[in-house]
This record gives sequence, structure tokens and C-alpha cells, in this order.
Amino acid sequence: MIRAEGASLVFQDHGRAVAACREISMEVRPGEFLGILGPSGSGKSSLLYLLSGLRVPTAGRILYQDRPLESLSDEERARIRLREFGFVFQLPHLLGYLTSVENVVVANPSPDAEEEAVRLLTEIGLGDHLHRRPHELSGGQRQRVCVARALAGGRRIIFADEPTAALDHHSGLRVVQQLARHRGEGALVMVTHDPSMLEEADRILHLADGQIEREELRSPSKIEAP
Ligand SMILES: Nc1ncnc2c1ncn2[C@@H]1O[C@H](COP(=O)(O)OP(=O)(O)O)[C@@H](O)[C@H]1O
Ligand SMILES: [Mg+2]
Repeated sequence: MIRAEGASLVFQDHGRAVAACREISMEVRPGEFLGILGPSGSGKSSLLYLLSGLRVPTAGRILYQDRPLESLSDEERARIRLREFGFVFQLPHLLGYLTSVENVVVANPSPDAEEEAVRLLTEIGLGDHLHRRPHELSGGQRQRVCVARALAGGRRIIFADEPTAALDHHSGLRVVQQLARHRGEGALVMVTHDPSMLEEADRILHLADGQIEREELRSPSKIEAP
């Protein structure tokens, strides 16, 4: 679905070059939950920004459905980011004056957006909190509203950057389960420094110093015994 080919991201920091990603080649496969695991500063967020087109690689390229992102027009790239990609970040960013339902609808122009928002929020366990505003929700509940927002409109690929970092273990696992359940024909790409949040991942890329140190295949363990 998405492929990185020798993708690098080098920042200029006060005249010093900092390589956040160094010639990374990898792909995101249909239907998978891909975990990206590594310590702080290993380049996880940078890789997520490259894959999702939020940043342009300083070398190499990123292909979305076999088309290099840089060959697309700005409009086309924006359309893909808005319509096909969903984002969940470390801290839940919600509009304070909107309810849960409104915060989900705001990102989704389709005519049945409200119906879908109610369905997603209910599935995610917020059926009793549909019309509350963010300050009336716990941190975990707010993050679940963000999850519903990222999934609304049938977005195909969800990018999550440390979505559990501000949550306790139990709420974190719940958020991950909800993200993972919806990957369907799309994919979930989740960055974390906490391996316990990747129990359900199909594949984990271990990142160190801007490079993929190793790939860990996990899906066989998920095949249920007859
Ligand atoms: N905007 C930036 N300017 C300069 N250096 C940056 C910038 N963003 C990230 N870096 C550096 O790139 C490296 C990787 O950062 P990041 O991708 O945020 O890692 P992680 O998400 O794994 O903590 C770090 O050394 C960080 O300091
Ligand atoms: Mg990060």
C-alpha cells in the first residue's frame, strides 16, 4: 500500500545535519497492523511523517499504491491525506467547544457523517458520552474520540504516533484494540516505545538510530488453535 525506498530525512539543526531516518526501505501491507518500535529519538515519528506524506524525504522516495507521492499534485496529496489517511497523535487534540459527535463529524463531510460518528463512538464504548464536551471526558475517553475521528469516513490507513503515551496501561490497550479492529482492507501503522502495546501487531519494525534494525513477524502466533 505504501512503500519507502531508500527514504532519508535529514534535518538542519543550527547548521548541523541530523539524520532522523537513514535510507529506510520498507512497506505497509494491506490488512496489517504494523508496529514501529524504538527508543526516544530513534526516528519513529519521522518515519511516520514520511510514510504519511506529512514530510518529504530528503533522499529516496515514498510510493502510495505504486505512485511516488512527489509525482502527485498538491491537491491530490491533500486529498489522500484527508480522505484516505487517519491520524492519532500522542495527545488528544479535540475542539473544546464541540461534543464527541461533533468532533468526529468535523473531519468528515459525507452526508451520513453524524450517523457514522454515533456508530463509531458507541462501538468504542462512548455511547453514553456522545454529547459531552472534551473537559467532561477522561484522557482515555478523549483519545477514543480521536480514534473514532481517525476512522470516520472509511479512511484506509491509520497512522498513530504514541497514541497510548498519555494513558494508563489498560486504557492504552483499549485504544490499540479499537484501532486494530478497524484495519480491515486498510492498515494500521502505530509507533510506540512500549512493546506491551504491540501484542496484537502482525509485524514489528525495530528502529534504532534512524534505521530498521530488524523485522519481527508476529502473525503466526495469532492463528488460533482448532
Ligand atoms: N524538526 C527537527 N529539527 C531537528 N531535528 C529533529 C527534528 N525532528 C526530529 N529531529 C531529530 O531527529 C531524530 C529523530 O526524531 P524523532 O523522529 O522525533 O524520533 P522518535 O519519534 O523516535 O522519538 C532525533 O535526534 C531528533 O532530535
Ligand atoms: Mg516521536
